[in-house]
Amino acid sequence: MKKNRQPAEPYRVKSIEPIRLLSREEREKRLVGANYNIFKIDAADIYIDLLTDSGTPAMSARQWGALMQGDESYAGAVSFRRFEKTVQDIFRKKKVIPCHQGRSAENLVFSTIIKKGQYVVNNTHFDTTRANTLHKEGIPIDLPCPAAYSQDPLPFKGDMDIVRLEQFVHKHGAEKIAMVIMTVTNNSIGGQPVSLTNIHEVSQLCRRNHILFFFDCARYAENCYFIKRDEPRYSDKSIREIAAEMFDACDGVMMSAKKDGLANIGGFIALNDDDLYCRIADLMIIVEGFPTYGGLAGRDMEVLAVGLEEVMDFAYLDFRVKQVAYLGEQIKQAGMPIIEPTGGHAVFIDAGLLLPHIPADRFPGQALTVEFYREGGIRTAEIGSLMFGGIDPVTGEKVTAKHELVRMALPRRVYSNSHYDYVAETGERIVAKKESLIGYKITRQASLLRHFTCDLAPVNLERVKVEK
Ligand code: F0G
Repeated sequence: MKKNRQPAEPYRVKSIEPIRLLSREEREKRLVGANYNIFKIDAADIYIDLLTDSGTPAMSARQWGALMQGDESYAGAVSFRRFEKTVQDIFRKKKVIPCHQGRSAENLVFSTIIKKGQYVVNNTHFDTTRANTLHKEGIPIDLPCPAAYSQDPLPFKGDMDIVRLEQFVHKHGAEKIAMVIMTVTNNSIGGQPVSLTNIHEVSQLCRRNHILFFFDCARYAENCYFIKRDEPRYSDKSIREIAAEMFDACDGVMMSAKKDGLANIGGFIALNDDDLYCRIADLMIIVEGFPTYGGLAGRDMEVLAVGLEEVMDFAYLDFRVKQVAYLGEQIKQAGMPIIEPTGGHAVFIDAGLLLPHIPADRFPGQALTVEFYREGGIRTAEIGSLMFGGIDPVTGEKVTAKHELVRMALPRRVYSNSHYDYVAETGERIVAKKESLIGYKITRQASLLRHFTCDLAPVNLERVKVEK
């Protein structure tokens, strides 16, 4: 018997969904048809889909039951009141505004708060938070802690750099900062958690300087699990107690509930300030819907009310985080460098290290993403220069990402370890022929969030070298 094996799932399967692996020839055709952009391949043509952990969970029997309780009244529905009470209890805020997903919460908050040219400081902006900040003519600033990009397996690499935050506030003045946002867990740098110590430090600094402090808390329960596991003074606290302490430290939250809401759609804003609530709610009526449904159906809010509670179950979180670590370990053994420790929702492969012969502007992450599909019908996501690179709006210079990563996000309660073993075996086959992988160039792109829709074409790297 293997020691320290992964715990078994703390649930059993009630209904199933068949998946199939297309032939190699068919997969090649799909890649060409999608212009090598994995977002454009139909889900039916994917064998194992690790594109995102967002909106992809399997719902519980309780959630399916709750769905039938949906009250679809336009205003003040029973389902809203149930959802509102759940959010108030967990997130410790008086006012709750449902939204159809995270980015609509971002849009509403930023439209209301950001004045042109103001900074929004984050431990690291997720791509939609960055894009929404820019869209409102704010300036997104990332202040990840120094450990964030180290190779050491430190416990809270998601923290914000408190020293640089202090310097930033001192240099620019509080009035130039629209808000400070803490993203938990820190998705863009490997799903790494943020410690409560760091949260308190940032909160105190914001309060001293009268700066609004919000959470982008899509993966709040996973973050609480890491705090309980790795921050000694919280080891005896429950996930709910840790969440309460975390959210008592902030002025408001924005949540994409498609992650730790264990739901296929939904999000919300929660805050205490009545005036801010009114301004957001007024805008909400114009762009999303009445403030007691905000673009969601009553049944969606019922599902969320159950999911936001269920996700705090310790046995579930323990299984979840250990399954992510299990996949990480298998991928490492297959010979791919990963970000360590693995975070709460995904394994991040360092494609820059794996494929040093492909330069950043030829997208090594995209090369690996394409190869996972070609080799095994597996869909992953590039989180590198395709996602974060482009032309700097201020200097006009070409920018590339700090790291060329490929993310394997684990949908919640969906795949078993046999699926993940298959993923790792595919990885092993790719490692065996890694020198043969080639780069890509963009042939068409949008001005913001280009990775979702751009077209790409393979590039003969030898020719690129000559052209340079
Ligand atoms: N904030 C974080 C930290 C996120 O990870 C996401 C979405 C959002 C905000 C936006 O929420 O998608 O509901 O509009 N992340 C997904 C991902 C898309 O794959 O990581 P949304």
